[in-house]
Amino acid sequence: NEDIVILSIETSCDETACSVIRNGNEVLSNIVVSQIDSHKRFGGVVPEVASRHHVETITVVIEEALEAARMTPADLSAVAVTEGPGLIGALLIGINAAKAFSFAHGLPLIPVHHIAGHVYANQLDEELRFPLMALIVSGGHTELIYMKDHLSFEVIGETRDDAVGEAYDKVARVIGLPYPGGPHVDRLSKEGHDIYEFPRAYLEPGSYDFSFSGVKSSVINTLHNQRQKGQEVNAADVAKSFQESVVEVLTVKTLRAVKDYGVENLIVAGGVAANSGLRARFEEKCQDEGIKLSVPQLKYCTDNAAMIGAVAYHLYKKGAFGTLELNGRNTIDI
Ligand code: KG4
Ligand code: ZN
Repeated sequence: NEDIVILSIETSCDETACSVIRNGNEVLSNIVVSQIDSHKRFGGVVPEVASRHHVETITVVIEEALEAARMTPADLSAVAVTEGPGLIGALLIGINAAKAFSFAHGLPLIPVHHIAGHVYANQLDEELRFPLMALIVSGGHTELIYMKDHLSFEVIGETRDDAVGEAYDKVARVIGLPYPGGPHVDRLSKEGHDIYEFPRAYLEPGSYDFSFSGVKSSVINTLHNQRQKGQEVNAADVAKSFQESVVEVLTVKTLRAVKDYGVENLIVAGGVAANSGLRARFEEKCQDEGIKLSVPQLKYCTDNAAMIGAVAYHLYKKGAFGTLELNGRNTIDI
């Protein structure tokens, strides 16, 4: 039997996830337990709460993933786990579960970079075609990555302050929308107009980096000033104006990178890839310029373990195994 069957674990933030995946793209099971309801009342993810939930949930999630895939540990080729970046306490729960599983069943252990997982989510829908550019936009990350080939990641741009999703969530909070606010701002923006023309941060010419703290502060200050003057604030106009600023900068910079690097394939992934304005603008621009745009299915865009298994398949073939010394890390290069 030549099949490579990997059990993968992801606990870097607020979802406890486990998946069984065959040959890098056949998802036999994909269990994701979200903690959003527990974090909602704090308006964001509380690391200590996240760790505690992972501890309570991880064993059951692993058992469920095996059961749903109709697999036993004896059928597996390896166990993979997100080693970082993420909340360190949260990462450690997944890592320790993976180490124990690897040791108990005599399986190789494969450490995986979380952002590599977001890129490889696309492999669950179709083969990756190189060279490619990938824009990863989530609550924790905003990264532009150039790939010549499998497992070759060159981060050419990243945020210098807030991640896009983080800016969305903060703007949502000041307009009084619940956490996580991205989807609410997106929905509301459809009823508004870009009357505010918030700043667009392009940074130095030639830079592929991003910055979203300026537009975020501008939204907060504008609302504050209007409220102080007793003026009525149209939340839909604020949402639309904010979204326009973000979508414009993300698409313009990404498409410039696509052109500069001469690639024809673009992947947009991570939770913010669900944004309707961002998707529509990318679809339009990519069609105009003959670029193949791939956006993974939504369930693979948000945090999940199947995407970790998709990367692990290639690491397995390369023999890139970890040891029981594996630790959670936030300072790792992709
Ligand atoms: O990838 P993800 O599930 O978790 C992280 O790894 O961060 O991304 C969650 C982020 C949140 O900030 C959420 O507000 C944002 O993605 N998000 C959106 C939309 N759907 C989710 N932001 C803008 N528009 C959306 N439709
Ligand atoms: Zn993520």
